[in-house]
Amino acid sequence: MMKRIRHYCSLLLTNAVILSAVMMVFLSGCTSSAQTPVKEVKIAVLTYDEYDTFVNSITKHMTKWCRQKEKEEGVRITIDIVGAKKSQLTQNDQARKFITEKYDVLCVNLVDRTDASGIIDKAMANDVPIIFFNREPVEEDLARWNKLYYVGAIARQSGELQAKIITDALSDPDKYSEIDVNGNGTIQYVILEGEAGHQDTLVRTNVCTTTVVNSGYALEKLGDEYANWDRDQAKTKMLELADRYPFQIEMVIANNDDMALGALDALKECNYPLDPFVVGINGTEDALEAIRTMKLDGSVFNDAKGQGETIMEMAYAMGMNESFPATIEFAFDKYVFTPYNIITYDNVQQYLTDEN
Ligand code: BGC
Repeated sequence: MMKRIRHYCSLLLTNAVILSAVMMVFLSGCTSSAQTPVKEVKIAVLTYDEYDTFVNSITKHMTKWCRQKEKEEGVRITIDIVGAKKSQLTQNDQARKFITEKYDVLCVNLVDRTDASGIIDKAMANDVPIIFFNREPVEEDLARWNKLYYVGAIARQSGELQAKIITDALSDPDKYSEIDVNGNGTIQYVILEGEAGHQDTLVRTNVCTTTVVNSGYALEKLGDEYANWDRDQAKTKMLELADRYPFQIEMVIANNDDMALGALDALKECNYPLDPFVVGINGTEDALEAIRTMKLDGSVFNDAKGQGETIMEMAYAMGMNESFPATIEFAFDKYVFTPYNIITYDNVQQYLTDEN
């Protein structure tokens, strides 16, 4: 009897050993696959300021792209977006921190586009590529390393297309006499400029006005004010201009939509007696709505979605050690430019329905 019990126990023991061995194999199989590190790409996005409408629209599309890509590829994508409150020193510190935390790629919207060297030095020393965007570094900085890129748009083209909106209107005799209220054959205008030193400010301003003049139309500049891309600042500047020229302003040229909208806010608030022709650049949501309701005469579409997605495609490829998608077209191996397009009442519907 004892013998049988012992035999029974040893049988039980053997079974338990076999069972636990099987369990161990099974579990170790599970753990080993669970422990296979999920591939992760870490992308840092540094913007010059957190309150810029257009830049925020680019970063919104970046985040969206990442969430979609994660679903498609099963790769974890960390995207961290920080604003620098218009301080280059703050942005340099932010870049340093991301590099220390081993982010794979930095996407940088410089505060001061002439002061990229601090960030570039640190990135080069740690082999972290940089994609600059929207605020174009000077050529010599970008030429320092083959892992520095720029994604944006060609400023000259936006100035030319803004001029085209104006000359298209002026070429229609009825429209011309509507704009040239005093009938003196010259359009009196004011211009609201972005930030001094930004590539888009100088180029858009010069190219737009010279193109209109070269197309055979006489312009007279009444005033020229910086409003730093900002709607409220533009409103304040426009109220001053309206006060200085109470019956003369026939046209407002703004370097971007927020400032064009700020000008409209001011004209409304002061009950300006004229209805100047107002043009902006970007095609932001509010601007599209203002074009649809015929308050804003036109804008130039700046492709925030195209830029945001291209930056992420590049960042992801570099983070995964893959080559760039063949669909991305580079200029001089470093630059990617999205095209601008005209937006007026005639085609605004297409932009309102697109998801920009
Ligand atoms: C946009 C502006 C924006 C600026 C910021 C320009 O390209 O048109 O709206 O404020 O970039 O850098």
